[in-house]
Amino acid sequence: MGKDKLKRFAENDTFGNLYQPDFDEVFRKEYRLKGKWKEEVFKNQNPIVLELGCGRGEYTVEMARRNPNINYMGIDIKGARLWRGAKSAIEEKLDNVAFVRCRIEFIENLFERDEISSIWITFADPQINRENKRLTGPVFLERYKKFLEPGGIINLKTDSSFLHEYTLELAKECNYEIIEANNDIYGTGRAEGLLTIRTHYEEHFLSQGFPITYMAFRITPKPL
Ligand SMILES: C[S@@+](CC[C@H](N)C(=O)[O-])C[C@H]1O[C@@H](n2cnc3c(N)ncnc32)[C@H](O)[C@@H]1O
Repeated sequence: MGKDKLKRFAENDTFGNLYQPDFDEVFRKEYRLKGKWKEEVFKNQNPIVLELGCGRGEYTVEMARRNPNINYMGIDIKGARLWRGAKSAIEEKLDNVAFVRCRIEFIENLFERDEISSIWITFADPQINRENKRLTGPVFLERYKKFLEPGGIINLKTDSSFLHEYTLELAKECNYEIIEANNDIYGTGRAEGLLTIRTHYEEHFLSQGFPITYMAFRITPKPL
């Protein structure tokens, strides 16, 4: 393992805003902070927004800068990437940010029913051959249902037309409420508000000329 990575892992252990549950603490077991993030971590009752597969946490940290009255949590399994987001949040004294190093497969053991108000999924691996691993696939959506508030929105921003179309079709099939679906946010002038935030992967895909897509939906049936 590289020296830099080791240094980051060591520093991660000192960060008060980075939670790194052991496998035994989340595998078929409720994590000690489940249902208590607002009370014990953020020390307020503001809504919590999640970013899944947050990488370096660019979305999480920038959303937190823009919205101090919302709590933001980024989840990823890669500690060396999370280091960047956690460090920036500490340096800027952003106390509405926390990160969790964990496999998203265990997410239902991290959060209680209705504990989360919305979700961002940014530039997730499309997992073309493994639907069960796809963060917008039915297996994961069923997990999110267990802790997302009624009416909570899932935001998907991606360069992958496969993931965008797949999620759109799935949402239609399930009769979920689709709030918005845009297959080229820059080409159509839709890149405004939170959609102006650009992550490392977004910059990379943009430089290669890929259109960036966005979709927002609820995992509840569309109103009659
Ligand atoms: C392509 S990167 C995108 C990172 C970031 N959202 C961005 O836009 O720069 C996908 C990230 O998702 C994380 N990831 C993918 N599947 C995961 C899982 N099941 N559990 C935790 N993290 C996962 C990877 O570690 C990686 O950092």
